[in-house]
Amino acid sequence: MTVGYFCLGALDLLGEIPTIPDEDRQAYIDWIYAQQIHPEVPGSAHCGFRGGSYAGAPYSPDASLSANSGDSAHITMTYTALACLLILGDDLSRVKRVSIITTMKQLQQPNGSFIPYAGSDESDMRFLYCACATSYILNDWRGINRDLAVKYIVDSQTYEAAFGQAPGQEAHGGSTYCAIASLHLMGRLGELKSRDALVYWLLTRQEGGFNGRPNKASDTCYSFWVGSSLEMLGAYEFVDIKALRRFLDSTHSKHGGFGKEPGDYPDLLHSYLGLSGLAITQTTPSIRHLHTPTGLSEETLKHLKTVEAWSTRDGQIDKLTETFGQKMAINT
Ligand code: FPP
Ligand code: ZN
Repeated sequence: MTVGYFCLGALDLLGEIPTIPDEDRQAYIDWIYAQQIHPEVPGSAHCGFRGGSYAGAPYSPDASLSANSGDSAHITMTYTALACLLILGDDLSRVKRVSIITTMKQLQQPNGSFIPYAGSDESDMRFLYCACATSYILNDWRGINRDLAVKYIVDSQTYEAAFGQAPGQEAHGGSTYCAIASLHLMGRLGELKSRDALVYWLLTRQEGGFNGRPNKASDTCYSFWVGSSLEMLGAYEFVDIKALRRFLDSTHSKHGGFGKEPGDYPDLLHSYLGLSGLAITQTTPSIRHLHTPTGLSEETLKHLKTVEAWSTRDGQIDKLTETFGQKMAINT
Protein backbone atom coordinates (compact mmCIF):
# COMPACT_ATOMS: atom_id res chain seq x y z
CA MET A 1 0.00 0.00 0.00
CA THR A 2 2.76 2.43 0.89
CA VAL A 3 4.63 1.63 -2.33
CA GLY A 4 1.38 2.36 -4.20
CA TYR A 5 1.13 5.65 -2.32
CA PHE A 6 4.67 6.65 -3.32
CA CYS A 7 3.86 5.89 -7.00
CA LEU A 8 0.43 7.50 -7.10
CA GLY A 9 1.51 10.46 -4.94
CA ALA A 10 4.38 11.15 -7.36
CA LEU A 11 2.15 10.80 -10.44
CA ASP A 12 -0.35 13.17 -8.80
CA LEU A 13 2.36 15.81 -8.17
CA LEU A 14 3.34 15.46 -11.83
CA GLY A 15 -0.30 15.81 -12.97
CA GLU A 16 -0.12 12.37 -14.62
CA ILE A 17 -3.09 10.61 -12.96
CA PRO A 18 -5.43 11.44 -15.89
CA THR A 19 -3.10 9.48 -18.22
CA ILE A 20 -3.96 6.23 -16.35
CA PRO A 21 -6.62 4.39 -18.40
CA ASP A 22 -10.01 4.29 -16.65
CA GLU A 23 -10.09 0.51 -16.35
CA ASP A 24 -6.65 0.48 -14.67
CA ARG A 25 -7.70 3.25 -12.30
CA GLN A 26 -10.80 1.27 -11.37
CA ALA A 27 -8.70 -1.88 -10.90
CA TYR A 28 -6.36 -0.02 -8.51
CA ILE A 29 -9.37 1.28 -6.55
CA ASP A 30 -10.85 -2.23 -6.32
CA TRP A 31 -7.49 -3.67 -5.20
CA ILE A 32 -7.29 -1.07 -2.42
CA TYR A 33 -10.83 -1.85 -1.24
CA ALA A 34 -9.95 -5.54 -1.33
CA GLN A 35 -7.44 -4.77 1.46
CA GLN A 36 -10.12 -3.32 3.74
CA ILE A 37 -10.82 -5.29 6.89
CA HIS A 38 -14.09 -4.47 8.64
CA PRO A 39 -16.83 -6.00 10.81
CA GLU A 40 -18.39 -7.92 7.90
CA VAL A 41 -15.13 -9.81 7.38
CA PRO A 42 -15.34 -13.02 9.43
CA GLY A 43 -13.36 -12.86 12.65
CA SER A 44 -12.07 -9.30 12.20
CA ALA A 45 -12.21 -7.13 15.27
CA HIS A 46 -9.74 -4.46 14.17
CA CYS A 47 -10.64 -2.48 11.12
CA GLY A 48 -8.88 -0.45 8.48
CA PHE A 49 -6.66 -1.46 5.57
CA ARG A 50 -3.92 -4.05 5.38
CA GLY A 51 -0.73 -3.41 3.40
CA GLY A 52 -1.35 -6.01 0.72
CA SER A 53 -2.45 -9.53 0.02
CA TYR A 54 0.71 -11.07 1.54
CA ALA A 55 -1.22 -12.56 4.47
CA GLY A 56 -3.00 -14.80 1.98
CA ALA A 57 -6.44 -13.22 1.86
CA PRO A 58 -8.25 -14.21 -1.34
CA TYR A 59 -8.89 -11.27 -3.70
CA SER A 60 -12.32 -9.78 -2.98
CA PRO A 61 -13.02 -6.17 -3.97
CA ASP A 62 -16.11 -6.17 -1.76
CA ALA A 63 -13.68 -6.96 1.08
CA SER A 64 -15.68 -9.83 2.48
CA LEU A 65 -12.94 -12.42 2.95
CA SER A 66 -10.10 -12.63 5.45
CA ALA A 67 -6.99 -14.79 5.40
CA ASN A 68 -6.64 -15.89 9.01
CA SER A 69 -6.91 -14.52 12.52
CA GLY A 70 -3.51 -12.80 12.21
CA ASP A 71 -4.67 -10.84 9.15
CA SER A 72 -4.78 -7.31 10.50
CA ALA A 73 -5.24 -3.72 9.44
CA HIS A 74 -2.36 -1.29 10.06
CA ILE A 75 -2.83 2.43 10.75
CA THR A 76 -0.16 3.50 8.22
CA MET A 77 -1.81 1.35 5.55
CA THR A 78 -5.18 2.88 6.41
CA TYR A 79 -3.79 6.39 5.94
CA THR A 80 -2.01 5.57 2.67
CA ALA A 81 -5.02 3.59 1.34
CA LEU A 82 -7.28 6.61 1.90
CA ALA A 83 -4.71 8.90 0.26
CA CYS A 84 -4.44 6.56 -2.78
CA LEU A 85 -8.24 6.35 -3.12
CA LEU A 86 -8.51 10.14 -3.10
CA ILE A 87 -5.67 10.53 -5.62
CA LEU A 88 -7.47 8.06 -7.90
CA GLY A 89 -10.66 10.17 -7.67
CA ASP A 90 -12.64 7.73 -5.51
CA ASP A 91 -15.40 9.17 -3.30
CA LEU A 92 -14.57 6.98 -0.23
CA SER A 93 -18.15 5.66 -0.32
CA ARG A 94 -17.02 2.09 0.41
CA VAL A 95 -14.81 3.11 3.36
CA LYS A 96 -16.09 1.75 6.67
CA ARG A 97 -15.59 5.03 8.47
CA VAL A 98 -17.06 4.25 11.88
CA SER A 99 -15.22 0.92 12.09
CA ILE A 100 -11.91 2.62 11.36
CA ILE A 101 -12.50 5.34 13.94
CA THR A 102 -13.65 2.81 16.53
CA THR A 103 -10.53 0.74 15.99
CA MET A 104 -8.33 3.82 16.19
CA LYS A 105 -9.71 4.58 19.62
CA GLN A 106 -8.37 1.23 20.82
CA LEU A 107 -4.89 1.91 19.43
CA GLN A 108 -4.15 5.03 21.50
CA GLN A 109 -1.93 4.31 24.49
CA PRO A 110 -2.24 5.84 27.98
CA ASN A 111 0.73 8.15 27.17
CA GLY A 112 -1.09 9.48 24.07
CA SER A 113 0.94 7.66 21.40
CA PHE A 114 -0.45 5.07 19.00
CA ILE A 115 0.33 1.47 18.19
CA PRO A 116 -0.24 0.61 14.51
CA TYR A 117 -2.46 -2.46 15.09
CA ALA A 118 -3.89 -4.31 18.07
CA GLY A 119 -1.20 -6.23 19.95
CA SER A 120 1.78 -4.39 18.43
CA ASP A 121 4.67 -3.59 20.77
CA GLU A 122 5.68 -0.50 18.74
CA SER A 123 4.20 2.87 19.61
CA ASP A 124 5.56 6.19 18.49
CA MET A 125 5.13 9.52 16.69
CA ARG A 126 4.77 7.89 13.23
CA PHE A 127 1.58 6.11 14.20
CA LEU A 128 0.24 9.13 16.04
CA TYR A 129 0.69 11.07 12.77
CA CYS A 130 -1.06 8.33 10.76
CA ALA A 131 -3.99 8.45 13.19
CA CYS A 132 -4.19 12.25 12.79
CA ALA A 133 -3.97 12.09 8.97
CA THR A 134 -6.69 9.40 8.88
CA SER A 135 -8.94 11.41 11.23
CA TYR A 136 -8.41 14.53 9.14
CA ILE A 137 -9.27 12.72 5.90
CA LEU A 138 -12.36 11.11 7.43
CA ASN A 139 -13.24 14.41 9.12
CA ASP A 140 -13.92 12.50 12.33
CA TRP A 141 -11.73 12.95 15.42
CA ARG A 142 -13.66 10.69 17.79
CA GLY A 143 -10.91 8.06 17.59
CA ILE A 144 -8.26 10.31 19.20
CA ASN A 145 -8.02 11.86 22.62
CA ARG A 146 -6.40 15.01 21.26
CA ASP A 147 -5.32 16.46 24.63
CA LEU A 148 -3.42 13.24 25.34
CA ALA A 149 -1.92 13.24 21.83
CA VAL A 150 -0.71 16.84 22.26
CA LYS A 151 0.79 15.92 25.64
CA TYR A 152 2.74 13.05 24.02
CA ILE A 153 4.07 15.41 21.35
CA VAL A 154 5.05 18.06 23.91
CA ASP A 155 6.74 15.35 26.04
CA SER A 156 8.77 14.20 23.00
CA GLN A 157 10.40 17.60 22.36
CA THR A 158 14.07 17.35 23.27
CA TYR A 159 16.71 19.79 24.55
CA GLU A 160 17.46 20.53 20.87
CA ALA A 161 13.81 21.78 20.50
CA ALA A 162 13.06 19.19 17.77
CA PHE A 163 11.13 15.95 18.35
CA GLY A 164 12.03 12.34 18.93
CA GLN A 165 9.81 9.32 18.25
CA ALA A 166 9.03 9.17 21.97
CA PRO A 167 9.89 11.04 25.19
CA GLY A 168 13.63 10.79 25.88
CA GLN A 169 14.57 9.75 22.32
CA GLU A 170 16.92 11.59 19.96
CA ALA A 171 15.48 14.46 17.92
CA HIS A 172 15.11 13.50 14.26
CA GLY A 173 13.79 15.15 11.07
CA GLY A 174 11.27 12.34 10.44
CA SER A 175 9.70 12.37 13.89
CA THR A 176 9.77 16.17 13.89
CA TYR A 177 7.66 16.16 10.70
CA CYS A 178 5.20 13.73 12.33
CA ALA A 179 4.95 15.89 15.45
CA ILE A 180 4.45 19.22 13.68
CA ALA A 181 2.08 17.82 11.04
CA SER A 182 -0.01 16.15 13.79
CA LEU A 183 -0.26 19.42 15.73
CA HIS A 184 -1.17 21.21 12.49
CA LEU A 185 -3.89 18.69 11.58
CA MET A 186 -5.33 18.87 15.11
CA GLY A 187 -5.34 22.69 14.92
CA ARG A 188 -2.99 22.79 17.93
CA LEU A 189 0.20 24.26 16.41
CA GLY A 190 -0.29 27.23 18.74
CA GLU A 191 0.71 25.00 21.67
CA LEU A 192 4.20 24.46 20.25
CA LYS A 193 6.96 25.55 22.62
CA SER A 194 10.43 26.93 21.66
CA ARG A 195 9.38 27.67 18.07
CA ASP A 196 12.44 29.80 17.27
CA ALA A 197 14.88 27.19 18.58
CA LEU A 198 13.04 24.53 16.57
CA VAL A 199 13.23 26.64 13.40
CA TYR A 200 16.96 27.11 14.07
CA TRP A 201 17.44 23.32 14.45
CA LEU A 202 15.53 22.67 11.23
CA LEU A 203 17.42 25.33 9.26
CA THR A 204 20.77 24.02 10.48
CA ARG A 205 19.87 20.64 8.96
CA GLN A 206 20.64 22.23 5.58
CA GLU A 207 24.08 21.86 4.13
CA GLY A 208 23.04 21.94 0.48
CA GLY A 209 20.41 19.23 0.90
CA PHE A 210 18.96 18.48 4.32
CA ASN A 211 20.04 15.83 6.79
CA GLY A 212 17.82 14.29 9.48
CA ARG A 213 20.06 15.03 12.48
CA PRO A 214 23.38 16.74 13.22
CA ASN A 215 26.58 15.36 11.66
CA LYS A 216 24.78 13.14 9.16
CA ALA A 217 24.99 13.38 5.37
CA SER A 218 22.27 15.08 3.32
CA ASP A 219 19.55 12.73 2.12
CA THR A 220 16.85 13.43 -0.50
CA CYS A 221 13.92 12.46 1.75
CA TYR A 222 14.65 15.22 4.28
CA SER A 223 13.91 17.83 1.61
CA PHE A 224 10.35 16.77 2.48
CA TRP A 225 10.53 15.84 6.20
CA VAL A 226 12.52 18.96 7.18
CA GLY A 227 11.36 21.23 4.32
CA SER A 228 7.69 20.67 5.10
CA SER A 229 8.28 21.19 8.83
CA LEU A 230 9.75 24.60 8.03
CA GLU A 231 6.88 25.33 5.66
CA MET A 232 4.26 24.49 8.32
CA LEU A 233 6.09 26.76 10.78
CA GLY A 234 6.08 29.62 8.26
CA ALA A 235 9.88 29.66 7.99
CA TYR A 236 10.50 28.17 4.54
CA GLU A 237 11.63 31.58 3.25
CA PHE A 238 14.94 31.04 5.09
CA VAL A 239 15.79 27.89 3.10
CA ASP A 240 18.57 28.19 0.53
CA ILE A 241 16.44 26.93 -2.36
CA LYS A 242 19.24 27.16 -4.95
CA ALA A 243 21.51 24.94 -2.87
CA LEU A 244 18.64 22.50 -2.24
CA ARG A 245 17.89 22.29 -5.98
CA ARG A 246 21.57 21.63 -6.71
CA PHE A 247 21.51 18.76 -4.20
CA LEU A 248 18.29 17.32 -5.64
CA ASP A 249 19.76 17.58 -9.17
CA SER A 250 22.68 15.50 -7.90
CA THR A 251 20.43 12.74 -6.52
CA HIS A 252 18.11 12.79 -9.56
CA SER A 253 19.03 9.54 -11.28
CA LYS A 254 19.83 9.08 -14.96
CA HIS A 255 17.44 6.09 -14.72
CA GLY A 256 14.62 8.44 -13.61
CA GLY A 257 13.49 9.14 -10.06
CA PHE A 258 15.67 10.06 -7.09
CA GLY A 259 18.13 8.15 -4.95
CA LYS A 260 19.00 8.89 -1.33
CA GLU A 261 22.44 10.40 -1.99
CA PRO A 262 24.34 11.55 -5.10
CA GLY A 263 25.12 8.58 -7.35
CA ASP A 264 22.69 6.19 -5.61
CA TYR A 265 20.24 4.10 -7.59
CA PRO A 266 16.72 5.52 -7.40
CA ASP A 267 14.01 4.04 -5.19
CA LEU A 268 10.31 4.79 -4.92
CA LEU A 269 10.41 6.36 -1.44
CA HIS A 270 13.14 8.86 -2.37
CA SER A 271 11.58 9.49 -5.78
CA TYR A 272 8.28 10.45 -4.17
CA LEU A 273 9.84 12.45 -1.33
CA GLY A 274 12.33 14.16 -3.67
CA LEU A 275 9.43 15.33 -5.84
CA SER A 276 7.55 16.41 -2.70
CA GLY A 277 10.60 18.38 -1.56
CA LEU A 278 10.75 20.04 -4.97
CA ALA A 279 7.02 20.80 -4.80
CA ILE A 280 7.57 22.78 -1.57
CA THR A 281 10.18 24.97 -3.30
CA GLN A 282 7.49 26.01 -5.82
CA THR A 283 10.23 26.51 -8.40
CA THR A 284 8.96 23.99 -10.95
CA PRO A 285 5.62 25.00 -12.53
CA SER A 286 4.94 21.46 -13.80
CA ILE A 287 4.90 20.10 -10.21
CA ARG A 288 1.65 20.61 -8.32
CA HIS A 289 1.50 22.33 -4.93
CA LEU A 290 1.56 20.06 -1.92
CA HIS A 291 -0.56 20.27 1.25
CA THR A 292 2.34 19.31 3.49
CA PRO A 293 0.45 18.15 6.64
CA THR A 294 -1.48 15.47 4.74
CA GLY A 295 0.99 14.72 1.91
CA LEU A 296 -1.84 15.28 -0.61
CA SER A 297 -1.58 17.62 -3.59
CA GLU A 298 -3.74 20.75 -3.33
CA GLU A 299 -5.93 19.35 -6.16
CA THR A 300 -6.49 16.08 -4.27
CA LEU A 301 -7.24 18.06 -1.11
CA LYS A 302 -9.92 19.94 -3.07
CA HIS A 303 -11.36 16.59 -4.13
CA LEU A 304 -11.39 15.53 -0.45
CA LYS A 305 -13.45 18.60 0.45
CA THR A 306 -16.05 17.61 -2.19
CA VAL A 307 -16.12 14.04 -0.87
CA GLU A 308 -16.56 15.31 2.70
CA ALA A 309 -19.56 17.42 1.72
CA TRP A 310 -21.06 14.28 0.17
CA SER A 311 -20.24 11.83 2.93
CA THR A 312 -21.63 13.88 5.80
CA ARG A 313 -25.07 13.95 4.20
CA ASP A 314 -27.68 11.97 6.16
CA GLY A 315 -27.72 8.23 5.77
CA GLN A 316 -24.39 7.70 4.05
CA ILE A 317 -22.79 5.69 6.87
CA ASP A 318 -24.16 2.19 6.51
CA LYS A 319 -26.16 0.61 9.29
CA LEU A 320 -23.75 -2.19 10.02
CA THR A 321 -20.76 0.01 10.80
CA GLU A 322 -23.02 2.29 12.79
CA THR A 323 -24.15 -0.61 14.97
CA PHE A 324 -20.53 -1.74 15.31
CA GLY A 325 -19.58 1.77 16.46
CA GLN A 326 -22.27 1.76 19.12
CA LYS A 327 -21.28 -1.70 20.28
CA MET A 328 -17.71 -0.55 20.81
CA ALA A 329 -19.01 2.46 22.82
CA ILE A 330 -17.60 5.22 20.70
CA ASN A 331 -17.64 8.59 22.49
CA THR A 332 -19.52 11.30 20.72
C1 FPP B 1 16.28 6.76 8.59
O1 FPP B 1 16.84 6.63 9.85
C2 FPP B 1 14.86 7.02 8.72
C3 FPP B 1 14.24 7.73 7.79
C4 FPP B 1 14.95 8.29 6.65
C5 FPP B 1 12.76 7.93 7.90
C6 FPP B 1 12.44 9.18 8.64
C7 FPP B 1 11.01 9.46 8.59
C8 FPP B 1 10.16 9.19 9.58
C9 FPP B 1 10.54 8.57 10.87
C10 FPP B 1 8.74 9.59 9.39
C11 FPP B 1 7.93 8.40 9.00
C12 FPP B 1 6.55 8.84 8.83
C13 FPP B 1 5.50 8.03 8.70
C14 FPP B 1 4.16 8.65 8.57
C15 FPP B 1 5.58 6.54 8.69
P1 FPP B 1 18.43 6.46 9.84
O2 FPP B 1 18.90 6.45 11.24
O3 FPP B 1 18.80 5.33 8.96
O4 FPP B 1 18.81 7.75 9.03
P2 FPP B 1 19.57 9.06 9.41
O5 FPP B 1 20.97 8.63 9.50
O6 FPP B 1 19.28 9.96 8.27
O7 FPP B 1 19.03 9.57 10.72
ZN1 ZN C 1 16.17 9.02 3.05
